[in-house]
Amino acid sequence: MIVRLLSSLSAKVPSILYRAALIMKPQVVFVLGGPGAGKGTQCAKIVENYNYTHLSAGDLLRAERSREGSEFGQLIDSYIKDGKIVPVEITINLLRKAMEETMQTDEKKFRFLIDGFPRNEDNLRGWSTVMDGKADVKFVLFFDCSNEVCIDRCLERGKSSGRTDDNRQSLEKRIQTYLQSTRPIISLYEKRGKVHTVDASRDVDEVFANVKTILDAEG
Ligand code: ADP
Ligand code: C5P
Ligand code: MG
Repeated sequence: MIVRLLSSLSAKVPSILYRAALIMKPQVVFVLGGPGAGKGTQCAKIVENYNYTHLSAGDLLRAERSREGSEFGQLIDSYIKDGKIVPVEITINLLRKAMEETMQTDEKKFRFLIDGFPRNEDNLRGWSTVMDGKADVKFVLFFDCSNEVCIDRCLERGKSSGRTDDNRQSLEKRIQTYLQSTRPIISLYEKRGKVHTVDASRDVDEVFANVKTILDAEG
């Protein structure tokens, strides 16, 4: 009797945990920094070491650009080449869908690194409209390095990335967009005490050591 009770209880414990996770609000870390600062590189390392799902707004937009039948393909293509920020209605839907799909596939996956978002006021407004109350933004992980380092890294990446925007002409525009539109968003979160800044100019492992300290302290 007791054995049966115990075994039925132990069978239930994981399912209770799963259900708790199911009703967990998504926990979000926004990952920001200049083009080529190393956001994607560091997010990949975080995913290897912590229970986070990496969603890159840029990757999602590139996938939508090449999705057959997408009504936004051409618009996304021209915005990316011009280093401009795509209207948030498109981006937020891609992010929301990706988050929902992740959580539907695995209830334990409710921690997200949202890389390259919010990049301007429009992005922020779209996030608030669609996600306020539905997800908790824990903090912003800000990869900080000089424009020169950013440009050099993107030009180097451009030798093999096949990206239409890893060239000098697009990069000048991307840096302008970063300085004019994204930095003010980072400042806004800084005023709320929600930014962890990492010196992204150091080598990959040194940067990651810094990231680990932050994530371990945040729990
Ligand atoms: P982002 O996602 O911020 O645009 P990536 O992670 O794609 O940046 O990195 C841009 C390029 O720089 C890639 O070619 C990557 O291999 C390289 N890279 C990333 N982090 C570093 C680093 N700390 N030091 C040197 N090169 C780096
Ligand atoms: O982050 P990543 O470098 O992949 O972004 C590439 C481009 O995708 C940006 O320069 C921009 O044109 C577009 N993008 C966007 N809105 C975002 C993120 C990326 O329009 N939030
Ligand atoms: Mg990237």
